[in-house]
Amino acid sequence: MQPFMGVAIEIKDLTKIYGKVVALKKVNLSIEAGEFLVLLGPSGCGKTTLLRCIAGLETPDEGRIIIGDQTVLDAARGIAVPSGKRQVGMVFQSYALWPHMTVYENVGFGLWIQKLPAGKARQHVDGVLKDLGMQGLGGRYPSELSGGQQQRVAVARLLATQPPVFLMDEPLSNLDARLRLDMRSELKRLHYRLGVTTVYVTHDQTEAMTMASRVVVMNAGQIQQIDSPHRIYHKPASLFVAEFVGMPRINTLPAQVVQRDGKSWLTTDDMSLQLARRLDQKEVTAAVRPEDIGLFLEPHPEATEFKIYAVLPSGPEQYVQVKRGDRTLMIRETRQLDLKMDQTVWIRIAPSAINLYDRDSGMAIPMETNNSSFGKEDSISEQPPTKGG
Ligand SMILES: Nc1ncnc2c1ncn2[C@@H]1O[C@H](COP(=O)(O)OP(=O)(O)O)[C@@H](O)[C@H]1O
Ligand SMILES: [Mg+2]
Repeated sequence: MQPFMGVAIEIKDLTKIYGKVVALKKVNLSIEAGEFLVLLGPSGCGKTTLLRCIAGLETPDEGRIIIGDQTVLDAARGIAVPSGKRQVGMVFQSYALWPHMTVYENVGFGLWIQKLPAGKARQHVDGVLKDLGMQGLGGRYPSELSGGQQQRVAVARLLATQPPVFLMDEPLSNLDARLRLDMRSELKRLHYRLGVTTVYVTHDQTEAMTMASRVVVMNAGQIQQIDSPHRIYHKPASLFVAEFVGMPRINTLPAQVVQRDGKSWLTTDDMSLQLARRLDQKEVTAAVRPEDIGLFLEPHPEATEFKIYAVLPSGPEQYVQVKRGDRTLMIRETRQLDLKMDQTVWIRIAPSAINLYDRDSGMAIPMETNNSSFGKEDSISEQPPTKGG
């Protein structure tokens, strides 16, 4: 199949209200031509609503949507282009195949609507089915197909009309785990070959990180962060994003920024670490990923004593839960250490891996200065509790 060019999508101040529920609240989003954008967020955060607004299946209360050079929605001017006249194709979680039509008819339907000559349409549908490894299945009805095959028919139907925008709403969530993994690769290759702008909805953070060129994290009808998967993981813009992304969950510690000797320090009850940047004194939440905590079996000058609460082996790695007082931390350990419950260990948090969040707003406190941030002076050391800084 030949590549067909994607187009850009602009979404401006989009609001959608259902009765008392504000499903989308002034959403602004620029989607680049040809990118693979993933909308990620918990159930009910507005992902499907946003996708359906782009598709023209919902009418927003406010805002504008521009697909390519076509303004498909302008609420203020009363413009709402119907779904069939927008340059988009959609795959639903349920696949929404027509049960009384064969595979062939399901895939070809959009072409007949477009009044493509029968011979040409047949050739095209055959090509698409072959491309997806479904030659010979054209005569079957959806009920005669496995879940994975139904999923492919839904994708084939999307491909048949060659829209410059693909909209996919949790297309893999009805498949078993292994098939889901295979289909992720297939969809990625399809995108690589065709270069179609793809907006893909999932509540599965692993799927989002695997598939996306950029991830949009949503919560309660609003966008929390738009970024590369790498930055979403390593530099979450809010505590919400930090905790939503990553398995096991990110560790969070209540801490204070205090001034000492003209420098800023991050302190907890029993740990203290010098910050490379001067920050105002405030209550913060420090967040650190499980793989950014070092585990020592012997005392270490920069490490704090903890006790192992539980060891959770997971094939190539083990998750180690450690406890000190009422603080619990989760560590991802890739060495094949023989660890035992209640064993004493020493842990050290990599200073450069800590992200700080404002205790009240939950928003990230910028920490990046330059490459020398957290130089060799930085260390975490055990200290007597610093009550009141
Ligand atoms: N047709 C509808 N009528 C009333 N409320 C709706 C309708 N569709 C969605 N909602 C509500 O809007 C919010 C966002 O829903 P949705 O976009 O489906 O979330 P997601 O896809 O992220 O799970 C939810 O609170 C949901 O209950
Ligand atoms: Mg949904």
